[in-house]
Amino acid sequence: VSEVNRQWLLKRRPEGNLSEADFEYKEADMPSGGLKAGEIKVRNVGFLCAPTMRNWMDPPSKNLYPSIPLGQPIMAPAAARVVASASEGIAVGDRVLGLSTWQDYAVIPGGGMRRPTLIPEGISFLEGIGRYGLNPMTAYFGLLDVGAAQSGETLVVSGAAGSTGSTAAQIGKVKGMTVIGIAGSKSKCDWLTEQCGIDGAIDYKSENVEKRLSELCPKGINVFYDNVGGEILQAAINNMAPRGRIVLCGQISSYDNDESAEGPRNMMRLVYGSIRMQGFLCGNYADRFDEATTQLKSWTESGQINYREDLRVGFENLPNSFRSLFDGSNIGTLLVQIDDSATETT
Ligand SMILES: NC(=O)c1ccc[n+]([C@@H]2O[C@H](COP(=O)([O-])OP(=O)(O)OC[C@H]3O[C@@H](n4cnc5c(N)ncnc54)[C@H](OP(=O)(O)O)[C@@H]3O)[C@@H](O)[C@H]2O)c1
Repeated sequence: VSEVNRQWLLKRRPEGNLSEADFEYKEADMPSGGLKAGEIKVRNVGFLCAPTMRNWMDPPSKNLYPSIPLGQPIMAPAAARVVASASEGIAVGDRVLGLSTWQDYAVIPGGGMRRPTLIPEGISFLEGIGRYGLNPMTAYFGLLDVGAAQSGETLVVSGAAGSTGSTAAQIGKVKGMTVIGIAGSKSKCDWLTEQCGIDGAIDYKSENVEKRLSELCPKGINVFYDNVGGEILQAAINNMAPRGRIVLCGQISSYDNDESAEGPRNMMRLVYGSIRMQGFLCGNYADRFDEATTQLKSWTESGQINYREDLRVGFENLPNSFRSLFDGSNIGTLLVQIDDSATETT
C-alpha cells in the first residue's frame, strides 16, 4: 500500500488525439477531513479504462456528460475498498464499484451516477469491474432491453471484439440469433468466428463494410448494436430490415479527436422502415445489476461466453494503458490494477 496518495491529473484539455502531455503525475497528501452525508472514502484497487472517459476530458458543454475539471484527478470507474463511510448501507471494509478518480485514495459522493454499489461476495475486485462489470452488463441490457433481441433475428455488432461488443455478440448467439461482428483486424475477426461462435466477421480496416453487410445479412439487419458511430453506423442503417432496432451504445470513432461524429445522412430510411434508434446508459438499469451478474456468471461458467481481459499492472501505467482503447491495441477488457489485493473475493 502506498505511503503517499499518487494521482494522475488532467493537465490540459486534449486537442486531437490524447497524448502523454495531457496528464500530470502528482504525489499528494492523503485526503483528510470529514465526509458529507452519503460520501465514502475508498482505497482504489483497480480501474476500468472506459472509452467515454475521453469525452469527460472535453470542456463543459451541453453534451449531458460530465467534464473533469483541469488540474483534478481523472474520473474513472473503479473497484475499491471502503476506508471511511458516511453512507447508509456501506461500511468500512466493504468492497465497492463506483465512479472514482485516478488516485490511491478518493472520496466518492453518494448520489447520481457516482453512486457506489457493493461487489457481491465471491467475486473479486477485478471480476467486479471486468468479467461481471459495467461492460458486460451494458451489453446485457443494451441488447436484450433496448434492442429487444429475438431468436431467429440477425444481429450486427460494431466494436465486436472489444469488451462490451464481444459480450453483446455472444449473448446474441445464446439467444439464437445470426450474429455478424465488425472489428479492426483479421486476428480479432478470427477470434470472433473461431472462438466465440459468431457467424461472420468484417474487418472494417480492409473490407467495404456496407457491401459486406449486404452480403452477410441478405434479409437485412434486425438489431444493430453500435459501439462506433460515424461511417459504420451509416453502413448499418443502409442495411437495416424494416422494424429494426439500432442500439446506440457508444460512438468511439469520434471520441479521441475534435470532431463530433457525423450524423446519419438518410433518416428517411428509418421513417419508412419504422426503425427505432435509441441511446442508453448502463446506469439506467442499476436496480437490475444483480439479475445481470447472475445471468452473465451462469453463461460464462457454462462456456457460452468467452471473456478476454487485458490487465495492466501499476499506477504509473494508467494514461498510456487508457490510450490503447483508441488504437485498438487493447485485447479485451482493459483494466489497470494498482493494488495487490485485486484478486481478493471478500
Ligand atoms: N452506453 C453505456 O452505458 C456504455 C457502457 C460501456 C461502454 N460503452 C461504449 O461501448 C463501446 C466499447 O467500449 P469498451 O469499453 O467495450 O471498449 P473496447 O471495445 O474493449 O475497446 C475499444 C475498441 O474500440 C475500437 N475502436 C477504437 N477506435 C475506433 C474507431 N475510430 N473506429 C472503430 N473502432 C474503433 C477498437 O477496436 P478495433 O480494433 O475493432 O478497432 C478498440 O479496441 C464504447 O463506445 C463505449 O463508450 C457504453
